[in-house]
Amino acid sequence: MDQKENQVKVAGNINEISFAENNIATIQIEAKSICLVRTGKGLKACSAKCPHAGGDLSEGFLDKKENIVCPVHGYRFSINNGRDTNGEGYFLKIYTIEETEEGIFIKLE
Ligand code: FES
Repeated sequence: MDQKENQVKVAGNINEISFAENNIATIQIEAKSICLVRTGKGLKACSAKCPHAGGDLSEGFLDKKENIVCPVHGYRFSINNGRDTNGEGYFLKIYTIEETEEGIFIKLE
């Protein structure tokens, strides 16, 4: 993977990403496990680790309101801002993703 500043290139374009049937692909960057999520509004990225109790969100799914649903206890987190929808204060780490002519980049911070 190419790296520039604090961005990592994850693919040349979206067709290079192998999504599972749930429209989620998992990649490893350094020690981080990150989900790439194909949504109706483009590609999003979040931590693969559920902030509730560490469930693997790559095994979850995206609901119609653009929440990623954890397969372990069913908590839902907005793929746009990371908030849990039942207001318990859990936040899922969301990564900024940029699609350019040079490729798809994730900002690590
Ligand atoms: S581990 Fe994800 S909802 Fe509990």
